[in-house]
Amino acid sequence: MQKIVSFPKADARSPEDEAFAQTRQRDERAMASIPDPLGFMARAHQDQLRICELLEEIADSLPSRVDRLKCFYAAGKLRTTMRIHHLDEERGLFPALRRHAQINRSLASSLERLESEHIEDDSLSQDIIDALERLASGEAVSSVDGLSFMLRAFFDSHRRHIAFEDEMVLPAARQHLDRAELEDIEAVMLANRRMSPDELFSRHLCSTAMDLFRGEFTEPS
Ligand SMILES: [Fe+2]
Ligand SMILES: [Fe+2]
Repeated sequence: MQKIVSFPKADARSPEDEAFAQTRQRDERAMASIPDPLGFMARAHQDQLRICELLEEIADSLPSRVDRLKCFYAAGKLRTTMRIHHLDEERGLFPALRRHAQINRSLASSLERLESEHIEDDSLSQDIIDALERLASGEAVSSVDGLSFMLRAFFDSHRRHIAFEDEMVLPAARQHLDRAELEDIEAVMLANRRMSPDELFSRHLCSTAMDLFRGEFTEPS
């Protein structure tokens, strides 16, 4: 016997739906041009702080009050926007700033640390995505304490990472990069958004979570 459980329809806009829709529209517009690449990156940081909030809410709700739709949203955002943002910095912003490293040597060593944090975040986020998609499917996680620790480690370090970039890296970029360098960064960001999904991330999708997102989910008996 299977029980049908209804979830909100995808077109019923909650404030959270609206925020994600705005992000998607902005990314689509970004396919044509990004006239203010540093402003775009600052707004991407705001999106990532929202992801951190979602992850904290999920960690606080473990194990019995988990919102499965929220898990699905958070996994999708980690899978796409965070990876592209890292590429924007690694291929565009950081190389441009390195050419000005003589202006501020401590900034040059900070860029190295930030890049290694990207590697750690990308690796940890893959484990988090897998766990979130299991939660979205209604599966039990093998270790609630382990997942809670992993989520908290991720959003704590990611918030510190973003705060440093907002306070040190983006202001340095605004101070030192000229119009031609900003146009080069824009070109890199546009190229990143033309990459195929295969180049960016695995094609694994949680089909049960997709059903859930469409508005109806068949709960196993
Ligand atoms: Fe970064
Ligand atoms: Fe960043």
